[in-house]
Amino acid sequence: MTEKEFYMSEYIPDIETNLPKKVWIFDTTLRDGEQMPGVTYTIDEKVLIANQLDELRVPKIEAGFPVTSRGETEAVKKIASLGLDSTICALARPLKGDIDRALDCDVPYIHIFISTSDLHIEHMMNTTREDVMRQTIEGITYAKDHGVRVEFSPQDATRTDMGFLKEICVAAADAGAEMLNIPDTVGVMTPRITYEFFKELKNTVDTPLSAHAHNDLGQATATSLAAVEAGAEQIHVCVNGLGERAGNTSLEEVALSLAAQYEIETGLNYKKIAETSMLVERLSGIYMPSSTPIIGDNAFSHEAGIHVHGVLGHRGNYEIMSAEFVGKRSRVVAGKHAGRHGIFKMVTEMGLEPSEDQLKQIAREVKSLGDTGKVVSDSDLYAIARNVMDIRKEDRVKLDQLLVVTGNNIVPTASVTLIVDGNQMIGSGTGNGPIDSAINAIRNVVNGFADFTLEKFMMKAITGGTDAVADVTVGVRSGDKFITANSVNGDTVMASVEAILKGMNRLLDKKEA
Ligand code: KIV
Ligand code: ZN
Repeated sequence: MTEKEFYMSEYIPDIETNLPKKVWIFDTTLRDGEQMPGVTYTIDEKVLIANQLDELRVPKIEAGFPVTSRGETEAVKKIASLGLDSTICALARPLKGDIDRALDCDVPYIHIFISTSDLHIEHMMNTTREDVMRQTIEGITYAKDHGVRVEFSPQDATRTDMGFLKEICVAAADAGAEMLNIPDTVGVMTPRITYEFFKELKNTVDTPLSAHAHNDLGQATATSLAAVEAGAEQIHVCVNGLGERAGNTSLEEVALSLAAQYEIETGLNYKKIAETSMLVERLSGIYMPSSTPIIGDNAFSHEAGIHVHGVLGHRGNYEIMSAEFVGKRSRVVAGKHAGRHGIFKMVTEMGLEPSEDQLKQIAREVKSLGDTGKVVSDSDLYAIARNVMDIRKEDRVKLDQLLVVTGNNIVPTASVTLIVDGNQMIGSGTGNGPIDSAINAIRNVVNGFADFTLEKFMMKAITGGTDAVADVTVGVRSGDKFITANSVNGDTVMASVEAILKGMNRLLDKKEA
């Protein structure tokens, strides 16, 4: 069987759709995504994200809502000045002050929004439909008169009276809006109803339609795609599905659905999906659960014996797309469901060659460790295998001493003494906390010899209280080699350092293998 890009269902019933040839991805990670409670970026971080979105080849980036603060204005202005291929957009209400602030940022595209549902008009804006209509026309006309392109959003569109929604969409288009974005502001729609909703609007206006969904009932991706089925040519998304409350439509889910299920062009550079997601995780501080589609740690990981056997035979058996397509790697992981095929693959990649009996014993020990409720990391498997095979190999990098100083009004600083291949090596590092400084100190010592990037860092408190025992799992990478390692210690810094050293030693072993 030849390798295909996607392994999808072949059942394609004859259903009514009005699919466009191309869908524009409008990314609002820097605006609606930043409205998620607890998420805020510095100007430099916003620039990093904008550059990354440009590399992902996102056609439109909503860089912010300039009137909210001076910093926001500066960030949008800076992003607009980067000369990116993506069209940079700023959000504004149809108010002269808002639009002037957006114009000050030198953006070519302004997204104007106003609430149109009676609920919002009466209980939030204390005004009337007539006034909303007047503001809309005046705002769009004012922006157009200043030479920018305009997209219009009737906020809370899906709870707006359909007659009034049609009227305001027609008026906005007549005033010069080139895109009508229909927000399901509080995520109330089902896919089927969204389809009918967009179909009705499509029959009313010729201006392209866009979908903007929130995920309050976990339907944002499904309703956005239903809008596309009815002819919407643009979807608003956020990286990692960040956004107000339960978030916005996820960029990753929509992009991959369009490519795999609908075969619709988006122009995205799919290989940059994982990298973009990881950057936003790091800068937002919101880490995705491992079960998150496409970008979660487990999206392309296989533990259960039958599944591992299946993907090793042909990846299409249990993977609908290759992990590489989105810039990830498929992995086999050890655990209580693991079979011998998977364990054999993992230990041979570690450079070990167990006999048939040793392999059975390793599998038994992995399962019994898994039965205790523990996640079996790569370094656990390595330790089990070495023990079973009676390999007495010393770690190449060992911790001799660690001193960390932290407090208020000082930069957390660590000094470390490592024994590397029997030689004492000393170094120091600073960081944004004691763990970061300790890891940076280690990094400085092993620089050029055992370089690694820390892709994952997870800490769980096993017990409660300030004396809780810390359980740290790290994922470290060197080139195409990736290892997970784990350590448990009453001291959070020591648990982290031990996990890093374990991971680093296993990476060195892998390199030698
Ligand atoms: O959800 C919403 O209605 C919005 C508007 C500003 C478009 O984010
Ligand atoms: Zn929104």
